[in-house]
Amino acid sequence: MFQALSGEEALKYVLEENFALILMDVQMPGLNGFETAKLIRKRKKSNNIPIVFITAINQANEYVVQGYQLGATDYIIKPIHPDTLRLKVEGYVKNYKIRETLESLVQERTAELISANKRLMAVNKKIYNIIESIADGFITIDKNRLITYANKEAGRIFNQTPEELVGRDIRELVPEQDYPELYQEIKELAKKHKPAHFEVEFPKDTFYVVRAFAYPEGISFIIHDVTESKRVEKEIAFLERLNLIGQMAAGIGHEIRNPMTTVKGFLQLMSRKEDFLDHKDHFTMMISELDRANSIISEFLSLAKKKSVGLERKNLNAIIETILPLIQADALKGDMCIKTFLNEVPDQLLDEKEIRQLILNLTRNGLESMSPGGSITIKTMVDQGEILFIVQDEGKGIEKEILDQIFNPFFTTKNSGTGLGLPVCHSIATRHNAKIDIDSSPAGSTFTVRFKIFK
Ligand SMILES: Nc1ncnc2c1ncn2[C@@H]1O[C@H](COP(=O)(O)OP(=O)(O)O)[C@@H](O)[C@H]1O
Ligand SMILES: [Mg+2]
Repeated sequence: MFQALSGEEALKYVLEENFALILMDVQMPGLNGFETAKLIRKRKKSNNIPIVFITAINQANEYVVQGYQLGATDYIIKPIHPDTLRLKVEGYVKNYKIRETLESLVQERTAELISANKRLMAVNKKIYNIIESIADGFITIDKNRLITYANKEAGRIFNQTPEELVGRDIRELVPEQDYPELYQEIKELAKKHKPAHFEVEFPKDTFYVVRAFAYPEGISFIIHDVTESKRVEKEIAFLERLNLIGQMAAGIGHEIRNPMTTVKGFLQLMSRKEDFLDHKDHFTMMISELDRANSIISEFLSLAKKKSVGLERKNLNAIIETILPLIQADALKGDMCIKTFLNEVPDQLLDEKEIRQLILNLTRNGLESMSPGGSITIKTMVDQGEILFIVQDEGKGIEKEILDQIFNPFFTTKNSGTGLGLPVCHSIATRHNAKIDIDSSPAGSTFTVRFKIFK
């Protein structure tokens, strides 16, 4: 309990301490009770302290109304019975205590809420970091199909920054008329509230597996690029087919070759006999046909090989130079020419016989695609850790529809083609850890073999 002898003193105390109640006379020296009450109410700290005025009965009427207007809580009229005063004060103290506990409780809960909020924000940040760091695209859309969130990868997929994506209508980016099935899925998803996943080609030749989850607020999508795995899958299927064919070739190749050798031997023998002199041309033709069959079988057998046997440190340019006269003779026959641009390339582990075969097969195809007057350009160079061997022709090009098939064994568009040239190139390239790229237009085709440089 504090006792103040004037309004000014009371104001000082009120600033320093917390009080459950202020008991005050109306008439005081200096500041009177009302003026003091007004000032107490003005201060934030003391704004809520109950003020009880003590007044004499003869002044009660004129003071009571004015006092309440100025912020008095209650009045005690003199003369006072000590018990009344005690009970009143006790009541206020009790109230004060209740309020105090309540306030501390609120403070405690607020602190808890703040720390929970902090934790939530930390978790949020973690989730955000995860979403940003995953290699998949992640976007969320609301009920109106407007994008509400997009991570960096999603930005890359749509060729925009994530900020540019937010707020856009998904249908602007993925037109509904081009992807009717996708939107059908989304519609059903929103109804079922069950996760779904589907594959989309967007744009051409880029494939994504999209997993979608519906929420009451909208839908979230995880967009996973499967272009590369699809390509690898295709490649593996192709290699498996090649492998099977190779095994078959190895199995039957020799069985066919042996009788052919016998037949050829007899044909050569008989062609020298006087009796058959008239048919010499036929014998020559039969023998050359057998030779052709034999060379096809040789090519076919080379598909079965798993490893290049003759790997030696060689220079690609040197191999090209040795085989060039042969190619040039080929070209001259058809009134075509060969141009070479051989830039310096490092030596590399190469199987010379196989590389010759690769060069021949690619240049032959080029020559066969052109009309007289055309020319073939053979180039070598180093590019980004790879040795490039490029054969460029001025032929009619390769139609899109068949581009997928030209590496398949026996696929040919030529009357007397074997369809083995490119599959053989492919298996030679694979054995040399190289890849073959094709660029084709109606003005000609370019085959690029990329050899990884091994140090
Ligand atoms: N440079 C090229 N220009 C146009 N078409 C080509 C070229 N190279 C290959 N092709 C196409 O690929 C097919 C397969 O080639 P290949 O495997 O060498 O077999 P072949 O030459 O016996 O037909 C050819 O029939 C042809 O249609
Ligand atoms: Mg060919």
